[in-house]
Formats: sequence, structure tokens, C-alpha cells
Amino acid sequence: MKNNSDMQQTFKFVTAEEAAAYVNNGDVIGFSGFTPAGCPKEVPTAIAKRAEAFHAEGKEFKIGMYTGASTGDSLDGALARANAILFRTPYQSNKDLRVALNAERAPYFDMHLSVLAQELRYGFMPKPKFAIMEVCDLTAEGEMVLTSGVGISPTIAQLADFIIVEWNHNHPKELRGFHDIYQPLDPPCRKEIPIYKPSDRIGSTVLKVDPSKILCVVKTERNDEVGGFSATDAITDQIGANVASFLANELKTGRIPAEFLPIQSGVGNIANAVMASLGANPDIPAFEMYTEVIQDAVIELMKQGRIKFASGCSLTVTNPVLKSIYADLNFFRDKIVLRPSEISNNPEIARRLGLITINTALEVDIFGNVNSTHVLGSKMMNGIGGSADFTRNAYISIFTTPSTAKGGKISSIVPMVSHVDQTEHSVNVIITEYGIADLRGKSPIQRAEEIIENCVAPEYKEMLRDYTKLSGVTHTPQNLAACFGMHTQFAKTGSMQGTSWEDFK
Ligand code: COA
Repeated sequence: MKNNSDMQQTFKFVTAEEAAAYVNNGDVIGFSGFTPAGCPKEVPTAIAKRAEAFHAEGKEFKIGMYTGASTGDSLDGALARANAILFRTPYQSNKDLRVALNAERAPYFDMHLSVLAQELRYGFMPKPKFAIMEVCDLTAEGEMVLTSGVGISPTIAQLADFIIVEWNHNHPKELRGFHDIYQPLDPPCRKEIPIYKPSDRIGSTVLKVDPSKILCVVKTERNDEVGGFSATDAITDQIGANVASFLANELKTGRIPAEFLPIQSGVGNIANAVMASLGANPDIPAFEMYTEVIQDAVIELMKQGRIKFASGCSLTVTNPVLKSIYADLNFFRDKIVLRPSEISNNPEIARRLGLITINTALEVDIFGNVNSTHVLGSKMMNGIGGSADFTRNAYISIFTTPSTAKGGKISSIVPMVSHVDQTEHSVNVIITEYGIADLRGKSPIQRAEEIIENCVAPEYKEMLRDYTKLSGVTHTPQNLAACFGMHTQFAKTGSMQGTSWEDFK
């Protein structure tokens, strides 16, 4: 390994603005990281400023963007506000980008997170010209130690013509050893991915790149930009308690093996609250996770010994929690592994390990179809993320949702979802604060009854019971003219309450 002065000679150290000056209108860029964890921060903001300068002169400036998942505000937010997005995939959760893509200012396609890297290698989408990568260590031989998120880093580093490095000294070099970098061969040469338990390591602790592709290096000390999680409330606590009691009962009946199975838990406030409840339930043994994002609650449970190991793609934790991990790296070293998203979310591994998957729905229908992405069918919230990578291949797939949204004006349970992310064929269990609908082995009519009686808020129960009577004798009691009646009522009046089926009888 070369020393510091050799490094200064090997790589060109520049400012973020100098690095951004390499990027031109129409360029396609892959960014490291997964969620705001591990994403570059300085260069994307400088690219956004460059775009604004071009726009001020009346010139076009937009870039195509690939990321692992969502990113931080200095990446998605800055580029959305600068109106600099040519296209964007596979996932986002930034409020300004959400506004831009719903206003048709940023073409966006949300994808299963496990497939983006391979589809880039297959050539389904334009090849990235640049990979912009955050690292906490770099050697002259091109060994990079990634930071708090991995995402699609191995693939973009391989495909890009040029690599721009953001060397972030806020992440300690001692993170070396936390990552497991592995890229599968592509068909027809693909082989089994040899992970048989969450803690198995199959790759390298560093990402090895061709050092001649490293165009320049920008130094920074910027923090990750993971937002805080909302405090749990009575509803999220009850949802969490219901998930825990469902799983405890599955254990008791022997449908889940006594040693328990690895958990996958989704993103957001509700998932964070569910994990906390699961950890607090004495009937659930200490468990392992094979998941996509490792959120705050997981780290707390690890400290308490309730979570023994977590395999994930990112440490999507708030800064105080990240600092607490970095202050005690030796405690976490044998308890956490960070993998590329095509491995953390890999369907083959999810099916093999027998994951208990717990994800969040915006709305579900009375037959078990799930919408996690589109508000009222047309406005994008975030994206499908990894939810279907896991759900379709789960040992048991669970969806949680509060029974209502917007102060009760929206029922999260409707006759037909306004957008489908998961079909009824993949969803085993739905859980709200009111209870548990176990859909396994049930016909559409039985599913509707199970969901309405156990999960729907009292004010919407009769409405949904009446809906199932509109179709007469049939297999799936659906009425095509009426199925969006509750959504239509909301659009007209601002509330789903008061929906009437009279016109459809
Ligand atoms: N109609 C309209 N809005 C709804 C709604 C519905 N049926 N249900 C919920 N909402 C709104 C809430 O009111 C809230 O709005 P606000 O931000 O204005 O308050 C918003 O949706 C998010 O709800 P919140 O309670 O904060 O949920 P969350 O942070 O747990 O996120 C998802 C929930 C579904 C948005 C989030 O889990 C997600 O993006 N999932 C898809 C990707 C995924 O599952 N990834 C994990 C795979 S590993």
C-alpha cells in the first residue's frame, strides 16, 4: 500500500466544483450508497449548481441518475430543485423530488431494487459514464472501502468510464471489514449465490476498481442525511404488538421453527416502530435479520442482545445512532454485514433463508392486493423499493398499515387498490392496529371477510361488508363500476366516509 504523498501523486485531489465541471448535459451517472447512507454529497450539490448556472444562460443541463435506492437531500433534493434530472431510478423518498416527478419535471421509473444492477449490466438502460462514490478509505491500487451504504456500487464502478471519489473522513477507515462486496456472474453463467445464513460472507471487504478510471478525489466531512423517525404512537405500538403476537403464535404452533427465522423489515416510521415492538416481546426469541435497511430500532435491539446479527445494504440510521456505532465498532464488527442491493434483496437467498418479511402498505384491498407506492392511484409516494423482492419469496409475508390515514378520512382498506405493487398471491398476512388477517389458504370471499372483520376501522366496516354484496354469486365479489367508489368519494368530498353503493345495486 502506498503512503500519503504517493496518494497525492496517484490521484488528483480537487474541489467539488472542479469535479462537477467534468459532468455535462445528458451525462448518465451512477451514485454509490443506499438511502441517504453512503451517498456522495458534495459533488451532486456542485452538479446541481452547475445545472442552475447553465439554465441561467438559457442552456439545457440534465443528467440521468442511477442510485441504490433513495438518497440524501444534497443529491436528490439539490438536483430536483435545480430541475436537472433527465431520468431517475430505482427509488426515492425526497420531498422536492417527489414534487418534481409528480409534476412531470423528472421522469422516474421505480424498480425492484434487486434487479437494477443486473439490468444495467444486461444493457437494458444507458450505461453510466460516471460513477460518483463515497468512500472512507482508498488505496493507490484502487481498493475502496465504502461507507454506510453499498447499493449498486460494484456495478456502476465496473460499468462507468470514470470514477469520481468523495472521500468522507466522517466515516472511519476502520469500517473496513463491515462490507461483503460480491457481484454474481450473469446468465448463462450464473451460479448459486452461496449464502446459507445471514452472517455468511462470500465476497471482499473492499471494492476493487481500476485506479486509472479514478478521475479525481474530493475530500469531505459531511454527515449522512438520514431523517429522524417519528416517535411511536398508540397506533404503531398496537400494530407492532399485533405483529409480535402473530409471530409468537406461529412459533407456538410450530409453523415457524423453534430457532425462529431471519426477519426482513421495510422502510419508514411504521417499520421502525414494528421492529421495536418485536424486540420488546418476550415470546419472540433473539433473532437475526436478512434485510435491506438497518434502521435505528435494529441497532438499539442489537445493543440489548435481542438482535444477534443483521445483514443489510445500509446503515440507515440517524446521526447520533451512527456515531454510537462508530464509537463501538468492535462490538458491531461481528454483528453487521453490508452487501450490494442485488445480494441483500436477492430472491434466491430470501427463499432459501425462509425470511419473515414485514413491509408497509399505503392501502390494501379486501382480497389482499397491496399498494405501497401510489396515493389515490396516481401520485407517487416513494417507490416499490425492495418490498416485492422479499414478499414474493418470503417464508411468511406480512403487510402492516394503520387502518386509516389523514385523520380517518381515508380507509387504508378499500374494495380494490388504486395501484398494485404486490398481488394477493404473494401476500400472506395483513395487520392493522385492529388485528390480524391471516389470508393463507383462503378463497377471495373468505379473505374479504377475514380482512373486513379483523383489520378495518369500525367506521368503514359496514361500507365494505355492503360492497361485497354488490356482485351477487361469484368467485371474487368485485364490482367493476363501484370498486373505486371510496376513492371517488374522497376526491369529491375530501373523505371516504359517506360512500354509498345505492347507484350500483
Ligand atoms: N392514502 C393516502 N395517503 C396515505 C395513505 C393512503 N391510503 N396511507 C398513508 N398515507 C400517507 C400518510 O398519511 C403519510 O402522509 P404524511 O407524510 O403527509 O403524513 C404518508 O402516507 C406516509 O405514512 P407514514 O405513516 O409516515 O408511513 P411510513 O413512513 O411508514 O411509510 C410507506 C410508509 C408505504 C410510504 C413506506 O413504507 C414505503 O415507501 N414503502 C414502499 C417501499 C418499501 O416497502 N420498501 C421496503 C422494502 S425493504
